[in-house]
Amino acid sequence: MNTYSRHPIVLVGGEGCWVRDIDGKKYLDFITGIAVTNLGHSHPAVVKAIEDQARSLIHVSNLFHIVPQVELAEILVKNSFADKVFFCNSGAEANEGAIKLARKWGTANGGRYKIVSALGSFHGRTLGALSATGQKKYQKGFKPLAGGFKFVPYGKIEPLRSALDDEKVCAVILEPIQGENGVVIPSDDYLPKVREICTQKNVLLILDEIQVGLGRTGRLFAYEHYGIEPDIMTLAKALGGGIPAGAVLARDEVALYLTPGSHGSTLGGNLLAMHSGCAVLETILGDGLLDNADLMGKYFLQKLRTLADKYKLIREIRGKGLILGIELRSKDIGKGIIKKCLEKGVLLNLTEEKIIRILPPLIVTREEIDFAVEKLDESFQAVS
Ligand SMILES: Cc1ncc(COP(=O)(O)O)c(C=O)c1O
Repeated sequence: MNTYSRHPIVLVGGEGCWVRDIDGKKYLDFITGIAVTNLGHSHPAVVKAIEDQARSLIHVSNLFHIVPQVELAEILVKNSFADKVFFCNSGAEANEGAIKLARKWGTANGGRYKIVSALGSFHGRTLGALSATGQKKYQKGFKPLAGGFKFVPYGKIEPLRSALDDEKVCAVILEPIQGENGVVIPSDDYLPKVREICTQKNVLLILDEIQVGLGRTGRLFAYEHYGIEPDIMTLAKALGGGIPAGAVLARDEVALYLTPGSHGSTLGGNLLAMHSGCAVLETILGDGLLDNADLMGKYFLQKLRTLADKYKLIREIRGKGLILGIELRSKDIGKGIIKKCLEKGVLLNLTEEKIIRILPPLIVTREEIDFAVEKLDESFQAVS
């Protein structure tokens, strides 16, 4: 069905940070499948994991124990706040799982069911995740949505504090950085204060790290920057290395509310996705990719700031690790810049019509960043 407006190219191959179209033209891929191919394309560890797994067994369902699912859960638990993991297939499905887990916990803890989310947030397209999404444009025409969701401005503490005066609230769901909304980065004290209020009110904090988790910000999980821990976290996108995978992580005392039969997913935690996921996590942690994301992110930010000094069309540059945004002053030029960059061999994404979102693979090099900045410079020159 006609659900996507697509770029006029057909991609057939890729290696590292680069993809190739059907005519053999190469592009620097700084969209990474929308924050999915964090290791770049055709990473040997991911290719090997998928090949090996496909040869032995692809799927058996969650009626049986499977080794890679346990291994991936162990890696995630060892490297996060969580004790337990539920696996699914996508970001929306992970958030559905998190909402259901919070509701199950809330039902048992005072009959609470309301969930507070942020304006401008994006949590997915299924009805539950869409109900948690604070953007009217995605909800238009799909009502009635699921009830029990309240919205507060992102990055502001007092409205959140007031929303939690409602005794029926069981959880708060937030992105550590709002990705779809245009790389909106809250002040450093925002999440610590949110954590403090949630703890005071005995309300669960759900962090949606679907876009910013798994190394993108220079730490394995974005919450690590702020010295806090959530009660529930959702992951997807990069988790399966391009094979669909999602996850809900929680501490034991919360996770125990999901019991056999209360939630599930036929393909969730499938052998292929889990084996690929192990390769992704082992490579991020073992190949110094967190340090590279941090270092290259700082380099990129500094380079983009020189562009902002040069072109009045740029309103602001922002970024944390390898999620970066160029906010334009006007909505009129965004599409033109993206088109020019594509012609010059760099793939970039536009959100909210005026924010160029840049999501390079975590393996990116200085030379590749220089290439992208050069092409952006030429594109701004052409458009101005
Ligand atoms: C923060 C966040 N949550 C959830 C989702 C939904 O993920 P999916 O498209 O895998 O359902 C996205 C997708 O862009 C996202 O950025």
